[in-house]
Amino acid sequence: MFRFITAGESHGPSLSVILEGLPAGLKINEDNIKVDLQRRQKGFGRGGRMKIEKDHAVIKSGVRHGISMGSPISLWIENKDFENWTEAMSPYPVNESVDKKEFTKIVPGHADFAGALKYKQHDLRNVLERASARETTARVAAGALCKSMLKELGIIIRSRVISIGDSVPSNTLDSKEIESINWETIEKSEVRTDSKDLEKKFIDSILKAKKDRTTVGGIFQVIAFNMPVGLGSFSQWDRKLDGKIAQAMMSINAVKGVEIGSGFLNTRKPGRNVHDVIIPDKSDIRNFNHVSNHAGGLEGGVSNGEPIIVNVAIKPIATMTNPLPSVDINSGEIVEAQYNRSDICQVPPACVIGEAMLALSLSEVVIEKFGGDHIDEMLANFSNYQKSHKEFGI
Ligand SMILES: Cc1cc2nc3c(=O)[nH]c(=O)nc-3n(C[C@H](O)[C@H](O)[C@H](O)COP(=O)(O)O)c2cc1C
Repeated sequence: MFRFITAGESHGPSLSVILEGLPAGLKINEDNIKVDLQRRQKGFGRGGRMKIEKDHAVIKSGVRHGISMGSPISLWIENKDFENWTEAMSPYPVNESVDKKEFTKIVPGHADFAGALKYKQHDLRNVLERASARETTARVAAGALCKSMLKELGIIIRSRVISIGDSVPSNTLDSKEIESINWETIEKSEVRTDSKDLEKKFIDSILKAKKDRTTVGGIFQVIAFNMPVGLGSFSQWDRKLDGKIAQAMMSINAVKGVEIGSGFLNTRKPGRNVHDVIIPDKSDIRNFNHVSNHAGGLEGGVSNGEPIIVNVAIKPIATMTNPLPSVDINSGEIVEAQYNRSDICQVPPACVIGEAMLALSLSEVVIEKFGGDHIDEMLANFSNYQKSHKEFGI
């Protein structure tokens, strides 16, 4: 069984994550995790905090001499900004005179209002601190470990931005076009695109939002390449891989829509132009191939061997330098929403969080299907399973 859980507040002392179920024998080092943590901190349109934090995950358990032991792995990430919050966010009682950095002006679009009533909190900081996207740092660290395991099976996860602001999403499902995406250029781009035209459009949208003292959202795309057939199951609703991925993506802060393949566009086309025709193909390990991938690699909640393609819609950030009208949670007075230092556009870094969530979702079903307490056992099961495909289509 694979599971993970995170803990930690945005301005508290640290974040932690525990992962259980990764096999023994995986090479694990802090540098691999660091690469993804740093990728999460980049992006045009990010706020000042990213300059303060240089995230680093420390391995606290489950790994010995750089190799996983099959026991729970725990990671610990210090919040460098905590030095400015030692009293305000102290886990221990503090003097009444201390500035607790309380706030009471609800930010529309945040968890403030519902969270305050739900947890009976008169200081909205007690809601924001955990509802904040800072928590996704711990998920990215966990996702980096999962990527190492998936890589052993050949599965690679990539991401890119396909729209920011009012630009038309550059979603492509043509297999050849997907293969020609230049991932190196994307890694170098501050807005994670390999198109110079789109890069300019995205940056212009962010600059305009900044000038207008507002924020912009967008859509990012996460793709898993070299997918084996048969991960997930149609046999029960909660075993469907498309459902697991949708939940994982939707759980990312500010995500409001998830599409597998060309799910939304398909609704405007006749069925003949939507479904992916299968052809025999002896050169393929599966003995078959699809001529297109509108289904985004998932049919019946099961991976069909094509790349898994997930498009994820992110709303514009709720905190704005020109705040919306709001109310004070305690007095009921009409006020301006709270403003704290904030991002203008979080779509590029959200890509990296999306990669982590896809890696975590795929790890669950990979471990379920191929099992094994050591990576060698998992790889042997994987290889036997692939050999069994040769029975078909002969
Ligand atoms: C990478 C990332 C960074 C974010 N940064 C901010 C931010 O600086 N300011 C803000 O108001 N919201 C930010 N958000 C969004 C809020 O966390 C989110 O809108 C809020 O917690 C309410 O949850 P919901 O939008 O999922 O309903 C960020 C989200 C992500 C994914």
